[in-house]
Amino acid sequence: MTSILVENIGLLVTNDLSIDGTPLGVVENAAFLIENGAIAWVGNSSSAPRNDVPNRIDAQGRCIIPGFVDSHTHLIFAGDRSREFRARMQGEPYSAGGINYTVELTRQASNGQLLQSGRRLIAEANASGTTTIECKSGYGLTVEDEARSLVVARQLTAETTFLGAHAIPMEYRDNPEEYVDLVCGPMLEAARPHAKWIDVFCDKGAFTGEQTRRILRAGIARGLLPRIHANQLEPGEGVQIGVELGAASVDHVSHLSDGDIARLAGSQTLATLLPGAEFSTRSRYPDARRLFEAGVKVALASDCNPGSSYTTNMPFVIAIAVRDLHFSPEEAIWSATQGGAMALRRRDVGHLGVTASADFSILSTTSYMHLAYRPGVPLIDEVWRNGSRIK
Ligand code: NIG
Ligand code: FE
Repeated sequence: MTSILVENIGLLVTNDLSIDGTPLGVVENAAFLIENGAIAWVGNSSSAPRNDVPNRIDAQGRCIIPGFVDSHTHLIFAGDRSREFRARMQGEPYSAGGINYTVELTRQASNGQLLQSGRRLIAEANASGTTTIECKSGYGLTVEDEARSLVVARQLTAETTFLGAHAIPMEYRDNPEEYVDLVCGPMLEAARPHAKWIDVFCDKGAFTGEQTRRILRAGIARGLLPRIHANQLEPGEGVQIGVELGAASVDHVSHLSDGDIARLAGSQTLATLLPGAEFSTRSRYPDARRLFEAGVKVALASDCNPGSSYTTNMPFVIAIAVRDLHFSPEEAIWSATQGGAMALRRRDVGHLGVTASADFSILSTTSYMHLAYRPGVPLIDEVWRNGSRIK
């Protein structure tokens, strides 16, 4: 058995409510014991079980937080959209239409190229403290290209999502219903062995409420779990459909009615906010305070994709959430860790309670507060996953 004691932690965030009665479950002067990749003991450094633990890590008073759980990314694509970004910064609005440009380039790329670029993005994410990441298909939009996108995604993470319903591809522009048939039939069949989740972009210029219901129901019937891109560009049925179908999470939700909030508050569905997208498309942020006040559980994720949010950096997302969406630093840390884990229905990650996977970051500072307070500064010193150091 491999045991490692991490000691002399100035401030430890466990996300274990039972520790101090707050969601972050903070311990000062803390230590924890890792056994076989999982947390076996957490407590005060002075009472740490030191006997028979030859491997010790001295955190030198620094802050340790759980690894980020980035529950929403689109990492399988080729090329970029920097020109579209430039035009947007000059006043062009963001629209779902840009997706097809990336689709064109992705179809031309080999599996090896897609894997290499996915690995590069995962390495970026890991280096900024992400230890669990979800990854969607959605830039293939043919049976073969969606299936191979998911085969590549599976080599990067267990949290793979079939997003054949990301956009209506050019060749089906005049026949969207025929494309929906394809997604619900042969494409789903080819994608299913490689995916855990099914997602639909339910919004202006993408899929209607009726199409979304059909696609998600087909996926559920074939054993996939639903999640949804909802109400990013305009108000709509996305949240309602997500709650109705028991989605783990409704994502974006920049436009929310009172009814949407009430539905979420009475459900097991999280609201995942992706403020990197509003930042990079210069559009309105979701009203996070309304969600918190109604008691809705909120996750934060990067939405990494070449169109609306080309970042893998969760500390950056936290900084925007605190600065512009009025999260408290504590809410932001929780949403980027435990919130992400709940949005992926995972109990083994997102916290550092006993039995959790030993996934954590050692910051270069004494408080998690600095992630928002010192935006853009690389504050992640070390990253560990399953009890092994990956940075
Ligand atoms: O989550 N909203 C839909 N999909 C992505 C954007 C995809 C793109 O523009 O390439 C998103 O923001
Ligand atoms: Fe997205």
